[in-house]
Amino acid sequence: MDLMEIIKGRRATRRYEDKEIPKEDIKKILEAGIWAPSGSNLQSWEFVVVLDKELIEKIKMISPGLFGNPAMLVVGCINVERAKKGGKIGYPMAMMDVSMAFQNMMLMAYSLGIGSCPVLSFNKIALKELLEIPEHVDPILIVTFGYPKFWPKPPRRRPIKEVMHLDKFGRPFEE
Ligand SMILES: Cc1cc2nc3c(=O)[nH]c(=O)nc-3n(C[C@H](O)[C@H](O)[C@H](O)COP(=O)(O)O)c2cc1C
Repeated sequence: MDLMEIIKGRRATRRYEDKEIPKEDIKKILEAGIWAPSGSNLQSWEFVVVLDKELIEKIKMISPGLFGNPAMLVVGCINVERAKKGGKIGYPMAMMDVSMAFQNMMLMAYSLGIGSCPVLSFNKIALKELLEIPEHVDPILIVTFGYPKFWPKPPRRRPIKEVMHLDKFGRPFEE
């Protein structure tokens, strides 16, 4: 697959087969994550990889936005102490860093035939307790991974001519 195919083909997947992801593929996904760019190369991220089925079930109960039975969850967190090195913008920068790492992971997963879905809707306090996440670490996004029962149809994208502005705002990049 070429890169554009991977970028366009990745879909938020909410129905999964009951099938484990091989360890070597998990490693590839995680490695893709840590090679994402990060502001000032601070890498103020921490990721909790959840493979334990019972734990996944418990997380589902406190996550209204989490659908299906994924084989793996990755909980992306900000190490708030580390992010402080970035000063005032340290925290928002770390949010972008975690997002970029997750995009890398989701694209790598798709290239391996594995679906994924970002999940923002979860109870942060309950999740911290379940995963024994320390005080100075803030979970901000869960991504589910697994083999999809089917690949959903791509939702519509706002076209380039609507969202891309050439040189000055309001001038469409494409007529
Ligand atoms: C920051 C963020 C939060 C999201 N939260 C959820 C969520 O809680 N539950 C869910 O099912 N999908 C969630 N999604 C997935 C989006 O609904 C999905 O990416 C969007 O509809 C576009 O579909 P596509 O990813 O298949 O292109 C989230 C996506 C992002 C980027």
